[in-house]
Amino acid sequence: MDHHLQRSHAFLPFIFFLLLRTIPRPSNGEVGTAAQYSPPFLPTACYGQDPDQFPSSNLFAAAGDGIWDNGAACGRQYLVKCISAEDQETCVPDQVIQVRIVDFALTTVSSPTYDGTTMVLSDTAFETIANFTADSINIEFQR
Ligand SMILES: *[C@@H]1O[C@H](CO)[C@@H](O)[C@H](O)[C@H]1NC(C)=O
Repeated sequence: MDHHLQRSHAFLPFIFFLLLRTIPRPSNGEVGTAAQYSPPFLPTACYGQDPDQFPSSNLFAAAGDGIWDNGAACGRQYLVKCISAEDQETCVPDQVIQVRIVDFALTTVSSPTYDGTTMVLSDTAFETIANFTADSINIEFQR
């Protein structure tokens, strides 16, 4: 009996170790999808013809239905990372960009390469995190 108790105590550190390994690390990021779009970008649903709406980095995006928030999404900044795609090796590993929402994906002047994505990235933004030949990618994003 005594002997048995000692044995189970000896296993406790091992059980904690297993728990720590299996608990997912906390992350505020959400998972979604992204397509890309190219010029012409003006006018946008957020700021019309104003040419100053685009960040000088040209890293911007159109919000899909899910994050458009009735237009409240305009001006919001998102961190975006490519996590996977249909073709392997599409994503640029560990590359995170910050994009500014300037448009609504359903009314962009030029058509997105894929419909119904969480957001549509400017061609420059898309190329920074993925092989530009892809039409859509899976992303992790965080406001
Ligand atoms: C991008 O994807 C295309 C088509 O799959 C492939 O031919 C090309 O080698 C890729 N480019 C890079 C830099 O991985």
